[in-house]
Amino acid sequence: MSEEKNRILKISILRFDPNDPKDFPHMETFEVEEAHGMTLYIVLNEIREHQDNALMFDFVCRAGICGSCSMLVNGRPTLACRTLTSKLDENITLAPLPLFELIKDLSIYTGKWMQGLNERLETWIHNEEEKLNFDKLEERMEPDLADEIYELDRCVECGCCVAGCGNIQMNNDFVGAVGLNKVARYHLDPRDKRTEEEYYNIIGNEDGVFGCMSLLGCEDVCPKDLPLQSKIAYLRRMMVKTALK
Ligand code: SF4
Ligand code: SF4
Ligand code: FES
Repeated sequence: MSEEKNRILKISILRFDPNDPKDFPHMETFEVEEAHGMTLYIVLNEIREHQDNALMFDFVCRAGICGSCSMLVNGRPTLACRTLTSKLDENITLAPLPLFELIKDLSIYTGKWMQGLNERLETWIHNEEEKLNFDKLEERMEPDLADEIYELDRCVECGCCVAGCGNIQMNNDFVGAVGLNKVARYHLDPRDKRTEEEYYNIIGNEDGVFGCMSLLGCEDVCPKDLPLQSKIAYLRRMMVKTALK
């Protein structure tokens, strides 16, 4: 009886070190024997350990939680640690997510972009009346509301929705689905005392909710399956109401 052979995966990776004046963007192809349950994260480790220890890519958790292993897999933004090779053809192309600062190869600086976004959107609880009090007990919240907020808090800031958004390619200042999702999260939170007008000043413009073309690219690629479209639609309705007041 003949044993079935494992597939040999051909992994083509876009290599480039922007800090090396002699380097230029080019593809390099590596061959890796597929193993049962293999993810792209494991493939990249195999390549780095056995074929090219200069290959750069990011990872921390290996479990879809830190959001750092996002990249383009056959042109689609996704997380390498959550992508099984068995779901892919044996010819696989990997490239860094566009729009973010490239560190090297597949490694990008999403943290810098996300920090700028969080500062712009002021993604923290605003409550001017409350003084900082470390002895204060946790406040009660309705379980359904807590669940709704938690659902939006599951964003891992991977940047896949940013890379999948046609609008950000044309307008780099657009806050994207990740930004609108964060605003929706704080707007839901009863501890945040910002008024509708204050929210309008943040996202009631073309860089915010009115810049979204509702083409669903973001929701299609979000690895955490966040309800991005319904939250964007909710914010848009709220902003229109505020503008008409
Ligand atoms: S629906 Fe809006 S945020 Fe999502 S990809 Fe399209 S333009 Fe971007
Ligand atoms: S909304 Fe989804 S795709 Fe966008 S950064 Fe958060 S987890 Fe990633
Ligand atoms: S390594 Fe953390 S999400 Fe992939």
